[in-house]
Amino acid sequence: MPDQNKFPHFMLKEIFEQPQALKNTIAPRISLQDVEVRIGNEIRIIPAELRSMRRINIVASGTSRHAGMAGQYMFQELVHIFADVDYASEFEYRNPPIGPEELTISITQSGETADTMAAQRLARQKGSRTIAISNVVNSTVATEADGVLYTHAGPEISIASTKAFTAQMAVLFLLAAYMAQGRESIPKDALRTWLDELTALPEKADVVLQCSDTCRQLADNFHRFEDFLFLGRAIHYPIAMDGALKLKEVSYVHAEGYPAGETKHGPNALIDATLPIVMIATCDHKDPGSVLRYEKSVADMRGFKKQSARIIALASEGDTAVSAIADHTIFIPRAPELLAPILEMIPLQLFAYHFAVRKGLDVDRPRNLVKSVTQE
Ligand code: BG6
Repeated sequence: MPDQNKFPHFMLKEIFEQPQALKNTIAPRISLQDVEVRIGNEIRIIPAELRSMRRINIVASGTSRHAGMAGQYMFQELVHIFADVDYASEFEYRNPPIGPEELTISITQSGETADTMAAQRLARQKGSRTIAISNVVNSTVATEADGVLYTHAGPEISIASTKAFTAQMAVLFLLAAYMAQGRESIPKDALRTWLDELTALPEKADVVLQCSDTCRQLADNFHRFEDFLFLGRAIHYPIAMDGALKLKEVSYVHAEGYPAGETKHGPNALIDATLPIVMIATCDHKDPGSVLRYEKSVADMRGFKKQSARIIALASEGDTAVSAIADHTIFIPRAPELLAPILEMIPLQLFAYHFAVRKGLDVDRPRNLVKSVTQE
């Protein structure tokens, strides 16, 4: 049973273990003194070969695929190469035209998910080099890959994945930074800033965890709603997806994650007082693209309010525009655009957890689900 002193469920315990999981995952792989990411001995693909990769294919299932979706932005932004993300269960149907110049990354907490295992085997048959990101040492997917980057999140018992997910995103960022470092496509001072920001993440995660009681109150306020729409743009869209999946998995409530810009192409017809919106509207003011997307999200929220929607928003600390529009705002410590998603996920995990508890459900073992689907 969870640590009875503090946590009634594994899911809550694992949500609160995220600062330590991030620290354990990040710290051994960076040198602030030498301004370096050090994972070469783990991925076992020589730098010259890694430099020759023209494209990245990410294959995963469930929450792990959402981590891959966030990683896509990291690779494209830092390494300037295409990154595709596939449902592992769909990858084989695409008959992907891949070979030695495409790197395949399999993301799997358990390392035993049959779909992901099959996708990685197919990639290897086609000549693609493979790197597994897993939370279980010597798991099948890990041992069958060329290289493996373990998330050091510790055992994850709750069926809904939380600490493994945020640790997966940290590992993806480290891999992207390592590839950029190897291609000399990132200036040393920029890399130093990234490493400082990575090092600051666990402490910022601790700060975000203080919103647990607010999330419990929000779950209480909204526990009668049966449908939710989670929205985010760019790298925040995968977080909206996983926030929706968390709520779906543990509370049996219909929740959908959507790119915010897509609501005008259909979902807007659904938005009224009966469909609460969870809007990720953080902003990295040092990133012009982030500012532009933020302004669009604020405009979206104004429109949703005109349709009587109730809005729960995630905003950056110090923001006043979002909190003036949203019915409820949870503030996230400021972080760069590519790392903020790791922090944004925490309130959404807490909201889903408290929602399930409020409904009296078996939070750690939701009906019809298993921790790892080992049959295709
Ligand atoms: C599902 C779990 O069975 O498998 C999800 O309920 C998980 O939480 C998904 O994200 C993928 O599992 P893994 O181990 O491959 O990351």
